[in-house]
Amino acid sequence: MVKDQRDHYYWKAKEDGYRARSSYKLLQINKKFNLIKKGDSVVDLGAAPGGWLQVAKELSAGKIVGVDLQRIEPISGVTTFQGDMTRDETIDNIKEFLGGEADVVISDASPNLSGAWDYDHARSIDLAESALSTAEKLLKPRGNFLAKVFQGDMFNRYLEHVRKKFSRVKVHHPPASRKESAEVYVVAKDLLKGRPVKPGEIYDIKITSLGKSGDGVALIDGFAVIIKGTRLGDEVKVRIKDSKPHFAFGEVIERNG
Ligand SMILES: C[S@@+](CC[C@H](N)C(=O)[O-])C[C@H]1O[C@@H](n2cnc3c(N)ncnc32)[C@H](O)[C@@H]1O
Repeated sequence: MVKDQRDHYYWKAKEDGYRARSSYKLLQINKKFNLIKKGDSVVDLGAAPGGWLQVAKELSAGKIVGVDLQRIEPISGVTTFQGDMTRDETIDNIKEFLGGEADVVISDASPNLSGAWDYDHARSIDLAESALSTAEKLLKPRGNFLAKVFQGDMFNRYLEHVRKKFSRVKVHHPPASRKESAEVYVVAKDLLKGRPVKPGEIYDIKITSLGKSGDGVALIDGFAVIIKGTRLGDEVKVRIKDSKPHFAFGEVIERNG
């Protein structure tokens, strides 16, 4: 007897007007990790039929763009392209549409499953690698990334690749993923981007965010500098005290604003 795959989330999606049960995975992931915020521009790679696009639009209401090999039925306020996410011309189309950098790149892309475990795993890793390199091209410094991967031998190496590019990386299996599914989601925050600054250098900067410790953080050419004793919006002259591969510490030498 064929098992009925239509579970609670399938019926709930029908009721709530979502195109796919996968919408709940993104809702659950976002509730836990706060990847997409109001006003964010979001790129969805492998987006058909559009369940994640619907959720991204609700969460952000900013610029939302989706790409898939399949045609995506229109969603108001969302732009879609039919194309291969691994091709440069697709990335160029997205860049042109955004007219700037994206805040978040998400990918739920899956290969057509053959049933041969190793083969499907390898193709899923391929898609996730290509989502990662696209994310690097499209995201602003400290932007966020989410990718689905089918677990297997190559998963840890993929995770290492993501960890080299983002400062905070978690692996998550949302409740809406079927228990028997091999899929997991790699949730990555704060893309590390930009030229490292060096001790002794002096910059005029504005504090644009706060770190976990509550200290101010400024981006210098996309590189994060943490400055003790500063608050959001402060404008200060800083001297770099110590520089790590992915961030630096600075000290205030003059307050400008
Ligand atoms: C599980 S579905 C995505 C579901 C979607 N998140 C939603 O909520 O509606 C995976 C999608 O990845 C797409 N895909 C696979 N390889 C792709 C590629 N190279 N370029 C673009 N899309 C691809 C498939 O066409 C499929 O529609």
